[in-house]
Amino acid sequence: MTFNEELTLKVEYIESVLDKFVPEEEGYAKTVIEAMNYSLKAGGKRLRPLLMFEAYRLFGGEEDVIEPFMAAIEMIHTYSLIHDDLPCMDDDEYRRGRKTTHTVYGEGMAVLAGDGLLNYAFETACKAFDKLNVLQGNEYNAKTIGRAISILAGKSGIYGMIGGQCADIEAENLPADQVTEERLLYIHEHKTAALIQNALMVGAVLAGANEIDLAKIERVGYNIGLAFQIQDDILDVTSTLEQLGKPVGSDEKNGKTTYVSINGLNKSKADVEALSEEAVNILKNMGDGNEFLEELVIYLVDRTK
Ligand code: IPE
Ligand code: IPE
Ligand code: MG
Ligand code: MG
Ligand code: MG
Repeated sequence: MTFNEELTLKVEYIESVLDKFVPEEEGYAKTVIEAMNYSLKAGGKRLRPLLMFEAYRLFGGEEDVIEPFMAAIEMIHTYSLIHDDLPCMDDDEYRRGRKTTHTVYGEGMAVLAGDGLLNYAFETACKAFDKLNVLQGNEYNAKTIGRAISILAGKSGIYGMIGGQCADIEAENLPADQVTEERLLYIHEHKTAALIQNALMVGAVLAGANEIDLAKIERVGYNIGLAFQIQDDILDVTSTLEQLGKPVGSDEKNGKTTYVSINGLNKSKADVEALSEEAVNILKNMGDGNEFLEELVIYLVDRTK
């Protein structure tokens, strides 16, 4: 099987996992649930559940205790996108090839859909506790699941993704010389790398990785995440709405200083490559080895959406 065939199969598997956990569109809260599912089911690369699954396998995980967490991280990521697109933030009209949630459902409902996904993510992750009975006799216990939930919360919160989004919107109003490389790295590390680290670390913890490996996988997540956001900044300049499924030129429109506006396209591209290669080098010799994960990191270097 080629890498692309394997990737397609894995994304299909992730879609089936998501289907197991999406909320039913019924009752008086039907509209907000529809708005949640509108964005969640619109596709997207499903990179974070994929990375979580692969980290889990890297450390020998084989159970389905990972599935509620895979769904949960995609819910958190999707909520971050719905809020990121709001008029009070990046004010964008397209996402995942569709009109944005607030464009279709209105701003109030889009705020609630984001809130709804964030909460439902944790309701979903907690379903991992239901697996405890069948997992008796192996390494899983309530403490491991609790630790994974704590990482899921922490890397998404004020010391993770939300912190990065805070610094991102504040930087829009700063004079360009105050948006230093250091500040930009804080933004990229937190708004984007934190959720990638989240995915990898939850996978590792659930598979029983030790503390040394957990620190290494966090570093891998930093590299992949930073490379991923630099590539996102590049595509905002070089791609098209049709290709990306979201508007290009969004960063310039909002007066954002990006990795590309500071470093130029060539250095940005070279740094995506270097960060990704370093990630692969750390990944080699870790756990049981995971060739697909290594190939995925390299594949992302040249991603076009
Ligand atoms: C978009 O993430 C937000 C960034 C961190 C750049 P993705 O590019 O993974 O978006 P989807 O999930 O494929 O839509
Ligand atoms: C967003 O960064 C990161 C999030 C936490 C949502 P961007 O604002 O660059 O993401 P896109 O380009 O809108 O997907
Ligand atoms: Mg943004
Ligand atoms: Mg945006
Ligand atoms: Mg962007």
